[in-house]
Amino acid sequence: MWGGRTRALSRLWGLWPAGVLGRRPLSCNAASLEGSNSAHCWNCGGPGGPLRGDGFFCPQCRALQPPDPTRDHFSLMDCNRSFRVDTVKLQHRYQQLQRLVHPDFFSQRSQTERDFSEKHSTLVNDAYKTLLAPLSRGLYLLKLHGIEIPEGTDYEMDRQFLVEIMDINEKLAEAQSEAAMKEIESIVRAKQKELTDNVSRAFEQDDFEKAKEILTKMKYFSNVEEKIKLKKIPL
Ligand SMILES: *[C@@H]1O[C@H](CO)[C@@H](O)[C@H](O)[C@H]1NC(C)=O
Ligand SMILES: *[C@@H]1O[C@H](CO)[C@@H](O)[C@H](O)[C@H]1NC(C)=O
Ligand SMILES: [Zn+2]
Repeated sequence: MWGGRTRALSRLWGLWPAGVLGRRPLSCNAASLEGSNSAHCWNCGGPGGPLRGDGFFCPQCRALQPPDPTRDHFSLMDCNRSFRVDTVKLQHRYQQLQRLVHPDFFSQRSQTERDFSEKHSTLVNDAYKTLLAPLSRGLYLLKLHGIEIPEGTDYEMDRQFLVEIMDINEKLAEAQSEAAMKEIESIVRAKQKELTDNVSRAFEQDDFEKAKEILTKMKYFSNVEEKIKLKKIPL
């Protein structure tokens, strides 16, 4: 059994960037342990509540409990609801949660627990990916504040910005050499860095309209990044 478990773990670890696997204690703040699964255990009927192991398991029968639908990504990943996220901590938390809920650990358990583990695992992956990238994290944070960016907002963008994007797209379409591609890539990366700093400031000032404007710009640059990726793939 240990062999299987170890293999499963090493498979999981394959997902994580090198250097984040240090076993320093996870900073798991107690507040995030509360408020999940307050209902009774589906298996033994025992009371739920703030439990060891993050409330995923019944303290009496140890059965895996279903995900808490009211829990947002920030709470699940044990992060403050803020644009500033410690990505190293986020990676540690991801690793900690997958060690608890990954379906590989439930192959010998009941169908109910296998289903729950799939659901937990999907949620954990979604939450991790969403909070890791600045653009998706910002969009998610805006959404929690009731603001969404609809498709086709071109008309709201200032002309100067749209011209800038058109210029970059043109350059990209004309780029014939690796050097030309690299140059465009570094321009876009520098822009994204600046926009990320700016949106971070906007969120700190609770200026959600400003954050929305900046995130919309980041979406445009992210589209350019996708095009660069596609162009790099040799046909
Ligand atoms: C969350 O916010 C509190 C209060 O602002 C702060 O003390 C704490 O260090 C933050 N935690 C993380 C993980 O950033
Ligand atoms: C970031 O904010 C600064 C200060 O407001 C501004 O001058 C700069 O143009 C912004 N950067 C981008 C890429 O929008
Ligand atoms: Zn139970």
